[in-house]
Amino acid sequence: MTTWYEDAFRPGSEIRGKWNGRVYVVERLLGAGSNGVVALVRRGTSRFALKAGRETVDHQSEINSLHALSLTATTFKHFLVEVDDMIVQDREVPFFVMRYIEGVRVSDYIHKHGQDWIYVIGSNLLKKLTELHRCGYVFGDLKIENMIVSKYGHVDLIDFGGMTSKGRAIKQLTEVYDRGFWKAGERVAEESYDLFSFAILMMKVLDVRDRFQNIQHSLPQNREVEQLYPILRDSRAAARIAPFLQRALNGHWQSSEEAYQYWKRLVADQKLTPSPLNFPWLKICFAASLLLFCATVYIYW
Ligand SMILES: Nc1ncnc2c1ncn2[C@@H]1O[C@H](COP(=O)(O)OP(=O)(O)O)[C@@H](O)[C@H]1O
Ligand SMILES: [Mg+2]
Repeated sequence: MTTWYEDAFRPGSEIRGKWNGRVYVVERLLGAGSNGVVALVRRGTSRFALKAGRETVDHQSEINSLHALSLTATTFKHFLVEVDDMIVQDREVPFFVMRYIEGVRVSDYIHKHGQDWIYVIGSNLLKKLTELHRCGYVFGDLKIENMIVSKYGHVDLIDFGGMTSKGRAIKQLTEVYDRGFWKAGERVAEESYDLFSFAILMMKVLDVRDRFQNIQHSLPQNREVEQLYPILRDSRAAARIAPFLQRALNGHWQSSEEAYQYWKRLVADQKLTPSPLNFPWLKICFAASLLLFCATVYIYW
């Protein structure tokens, strides 16, 4: 089956903005989700992520959110690069261009570097949420697919289609991350809504026994967050952050700032840091000094 974007987003294709006239060359497709198609593109020597969407209302709402955020004095500043339309099969398709974020999914990062990295990643993700909340918004659709982790556990949020002004009804969600699904609160844009999804996200990443599969398919009348607690005992990393996760699942905090402070204390009190040999430069230094040592021994022996 061919999709509407297949030709337009083939590597090497040019995307020309109808109004601003800028030309982007497609490098590769990054993803095609519910709201649109995202490609890695190049203009000159710079790389960007370009998202095109035919669902105009959702697309426009994401642009509005990004536009508002890009004007704030936060790490989201200048995230949105430009907005334009392209012609695909004689139809106008709106698109926007944003900063390209190079990295991997949090689950892949943890799989490769070890579960202890969750302390750093969790902290960085909470920091991002506090920034967003301070600007008056709630992220809404926080999940593994909507964040990217890069070197040293740096975290970026992507996909602002669910971003909602505080106090409004949540406009885009994913069932298993939604507190309404677990009968643990309303679908209202409050900081605690994102904190709930944050806890689910952490538990999904640390779910070594794949318990989510069964639990999320249990009968709605039996569904409750307590069913998820065994995950907190399955791994050392989960057990260590369990006091935080249980509080977040139960709506303990009104603000993410309070939650962030609690997280930092919890991690500091238990001296939780990723294993130092997971830092690549440390490995390199270690190998270099070993080599130097062997060379010295060889020369002077
Ligand atoms: N700014 C970005 N930088 C790098 N990759 C991105 C960026 N935005 C989106 N992606 C990739 O494209 C995928 C789909 O984008 P997303 O905005 O989540 O679409 P949808 O709204 O359809 O879920 C993401 O999971 C991610 O892999
Ligand atoms: Mg998405």
